[in-house]
Amino acid sequence: MTSPILVTGGTGNLGRHVVPLLRAAGRDVRVLSRHSHENSEGITHYAIDLADSEKLTDAVRGVDTILHLAGGPKGDDKITQNLVRAAQQAGGVRHIVHISVIGTDTMPMGWFRVQLEAEKAVTESGIPWTILRAAQFHDIVWSMAEKMAKMPVVPVPGLQFQPVDSREVAARLVELTLQEPAGLVPALAGPKVYPLGDLLRSYLQAHNKRRPLMPMRMPGKAGKAYRAGENLALKDNDTGRRTWEAFVAERTAA
Ligand SMILES: NC(=O)c1ccc[n+]([C@@H]2O[C@H](COP(=O)([O-])OP(=O)(O)OC[C@H]3O[C@@H](n4cnc5c(N)ncnc54)[C@H](OP(=O)(O)O)[C@@H]3O)[C@@H](O)[C@H]2O)c1
Repeated sequence: MTSPILVTGGTGNLGRHVVPLLRAAGRDVRVLSRHSHENSEGITHYAIDLADSEKLTDAVRGVDTILHLAGGPKGDDKITQNLVRAAQQAGGVRHIVHISVIGTDTMPMGWFRVQLEAEKAVTESGIPWTILRAAQFHDIVWSMAEKMAKMPVVPVPGLQFQPVDSREVAARLVELTLQEPAGLVPALAGPKVYPLGDLLRSYLQAHNKRRPLMPMRMPGKAGKAYRAGENLALKDNDTGRRTWEAFVAERTAA
């Protein structure tokens, strides 16, 4: 009998797509997140905060593969270190798959540095690993546009994004999870690069909203890194097929 796969953050945006795919592949899943959820066939929920390392033992015991998706605005380094420590102590884990973000090693900003530390916790764990770095998901760009569109005049720094469909990222992660550990695999971004202004305009158009967009230059090292396209996957990487336009059409219809 195969052991269950532990999916941290399995209730999130990405996790919601991942868990059914693992079930369809015939695997039992343990889903770890801070909030309680009803169990269902083949899916057992563990309401545990990864920041609380004491409580991780039960979730990790008897698992040979962990797919680590849990994350948030801060503390991803610490929660990943806690998870790795619990996996080391449990002893039976032979594969950790970790979702990361394009730019961890090049973007000079605190959040990206924290993501790099989270990666290091995995790569230095002594447990065989796979890391997939992804671009921003369509959903997150949509939420960002939603917030920005609340301003009467929207400042638009000259940034570019290559948003990717979270379902395509989920499918790739499931393939990787069911395979042997592969180390750092080619990053996954969307099929096209868009200036932020274009993404905002399509959001506004989808909502029949009008807002003046005010171009601005992002200062400092962060602005320089964005202008150099360090957050994009321009070569030697994979691209998804679903475009931002298809995502917007789907959202608008819904
Ligand atoms: N969104 C993007 O554009 C993007 C791009 C590249 C990579 N990623 C990475 O992909 C991962 C998933 O992204 P997402 O969009 O699916 O995020 P999300 O929708 O915010 O989901 C986060 C998940 O993690 C759980 N979680 C958060 N903090 C936790 C903690 N301390 N302990 C236990 N569970 C915790 C959340 O559940 P509870 O709230 O119930 O705890 C939820 O299940 C993140 O690590 C993110 O850095 C995201």
